[in-house]
Amino acid sequence: MTSITRREFISHGATALVAGAAASKAVGGPQSQAAQGGGEKGETLRFIHVTDTHVDLAMPKTVKWLEMAVEKINRSYSSAQFVLFGGDNFNNNAPGQADAIAFKRIVDRLRMPWYSVRGNKESCPKPAGDPLGQRDYAKMFFPADLKVVGRDWKLTKGRHVILGIDTTLAQKNNGVFSSESLAFVEKELKNNPDRRYVLLNHQTYGNFWNGTDEADLHKYVLNNVAEVRKRLFHYPNLVLTLSGHKHLDHVGRSDSVQVIATVGFVVPQDPDHIDDHRFRYVELRGDAVTEKLVSIA
Ligand SMILES: [Fe+2]
Repeated sequence: MTSITRREFISHGATALVAGAAASKAVGGPQSQAAQGGGEKGETLRFIHVTDTHVDLAMPKTVKWLEMAVEKINRSYSSAQFVLFGGDNFNNNAPGQADAIAFKRIVDRLRMPWYSVRGNKESCPKPAGDPLGQRDYAKMFFPADLKVVGRDWKLTKGRHVILGIDTTLAQKNNGVFSSESLAFVEKELKNNPDRRYVLLNHQTYGNFWNGTDEADLHKYVLNNVAEVRKRLFHYPNLVLTLSGHKHLDHVGRSDSVQVIATVGFVVPQDPDHIDDHRFRYVELRGDAVTEKLVSIA
């Protein structure tokens, strides 16, 4: 498969979100050309996207799977510069902050930095009177190298910028881009045309599974997705969005933006092999996004 750059894509005039294995190139892993420093010097960004790990202390296998992912990344993807966790990282249903602490203790074993956004599990604590609120989450999970803006954050890596956007709503499983988040992202894109931007959030940017159930769509697709696309997707420096929540995998495009939803880590690749879970390895070089799913088995 051939990688398609933003400019090439625009020149082909495509505007709709399309199923897009063809829009993205599967990479050969940590030893690929880009990972070895090919292309524009110092311009390749390499990272991992893991979403919907759903660590639940009442289900010890979920803890084991996260430990396996950390071991796999340390062993086979040491060239990754950081790891992004896309929300529903833990089920937030343990007394106090026990599951949040367990998640952090395991992920802190990564040999590279890691960053995260909240999903609906983090915004819907159970029991409701035993919350890990947004401020608690930020204190526990936003390291000092993030520039925190409201509920969101910014991570700068050379020419690349990752914006972690909290699209959750308290005690709800649906999500929106708040007006504050939209203004934050738009200002970044407008003021920094030479940077390349990645958005990380939980809910999806489209109905890529062709669902027809309105309640289902309300839950999984950003409720103001049309506004988000209209405000943000025309900026040529927005390269990639990363989300999760639906637990299905999708690599597509909307306008010139590579739109990826990574499969829920908690979902086994094969029901007969329940310890086989997946995350995504991504490389950005210029406008080109290359990626592949990686199994922990
Ligand atoms: Fe979710």
